[in-house]
Amino acid sequence: MTRVAIIYHSGYGHTRVQAEAVRDGARSVPGVQVDLVAVDDSPYPWEVLDRADAIIFGSPTYMAGVSAPFKAFLDATASRWAEQGWKDKLAAGFTNSAGINGDKLAALQHLALFAMQHGMVWVGLGLLPGNHSSTGTPEDLNRLASFVGAMAQSPADLGPEAGPSASDRRTAEHLGKRVARIARGWHPDAGDADRSATASTVAA
Ligand SMILES: Cc1cc2nc3c(=O)[nH]c(=O)nc-3n(C[C@H](O)[C@H](O)[C@H](O)COP(=O)(O)O)c2cc1C
Repeated sequence: MTRVAIIYHSGYGHTRVQAEAVRDGARSVPGVQVDLVAVDDSPYPWEVLDRADAIIFGSPTYMAGVSAPFKAFLDATASRWAEQGWKDKLAAGFTNSAGINGDKLAALQHLALFAMQHGMVWVGLGLLPGNHSSTGTPEDLNRLASFVGAMAQSPADLGPEAGPSASDRRTAEHLGKRVARIARGWHPDAGDADRSATASTVAA
């Protein structure tokens, strides 16, 4: 059984809607079990994350980065980092913010660099930009024209019923489906050997 875990934070519910869309996309792939967990479901769900073949990370963009609760979770993974326990798992990311741009890219870059520090293999969105030509519309898939992960936008003064938009939710679904499909065929044989090499180098 292929396992995909989605872990996210949402202060006001908008990023939760995006996370649920990522989940719906992932679980549309046969043979894939999907776990959706929020970082405020304490304690952190280590067992779910450790057994996953792929982990999809999601945070609102707050102050041009990930939110403080999500950063606390990222920092709490340091012992996994030290053992490279998540090495060769797949990783991907999504973010939602109020601005059309809003510096969402900074949050996604943070997640991608975090995954690389763990030795994970980053899966980008895999879509051409939407709403990008004279015939494009805001209803297009990937209307916010991201490559590194899924972006969504929600009005700052309204609740999650007002955003993310249908297009952003479909983009999030696409990311979940893409990661699940890739995870189903992902068999990183070299991972254990690399981990032993790292451990013996440290011991020497
Ligand atoms: C502390 C804080 C910082 C924020 N910083 C940004 C920002 O840098 N860029 C942006 O576009 N929106 C920013 N926002 C707006 C949120 O990203 C936006 O309201 C988002 O939909 C919240 O998602 P959530 O409901 O999942 O928490 C910020 C909101 C808060 C509360």
